[in-house]
Amino acid sequence: MWQIETVKVDAKKLVAAAAAARQGSVAPYSHFAVGAALLTRTGEIIGGANVESASYGLTCCAERVALFKALTEGKKDFVAVAVVARCDGGPTPCGACRQLLAEYAPKARVFIADAADLPKVKRFTVSGLLPHAFTLTDLKSGR
Ligand code: THU
Repeated sequence: MWQIETVKVDAKKLVAAAAAARQGSVAPYSHFAVGAALLTRTGEIIGGANVESASYGLTCCAERVALFKALTEGKKDFVAVAVVARCDGGPTPCGACRQLLAEYAPKARVFIADAADLPKVKRFTVSGLLPHAFTLTDLKSGR
């Protein structure tokens, strides 16, 4: 259990939420189902899953689906994110998702698990996954 200011972060519970969200994956091309779950400081959990397109580049990862869902529902201030897929060691977020997480969930803990071995959780931080990220602060500094 992580204690981040007033929020208790139960990594196992968040990983279970990501595994549940993974059931909503729409991945007819890769057949690689990914689920993600974000935890807000107020204790809300928002799940998402990857959605693929025949125009492959339009595919959206589970992390971004969860993030866009949360943000467009007015939810922010994320303390953790979990990502689950069936791959050895679990899936680490792609570069695009790291960028978005660095912008909208910079303080978040990141929990990764293999869908076939949920109790084994790898722990990272967003800043550890993408150090020196380009953010709004950089944009504003030149104005
Ligand atoms: N994918 C995610 O949803 N999250 C990741 O962190 C890595 C990759 C998805 C995108 C695509 O639908 C499939 O996994 C194969 O790349």
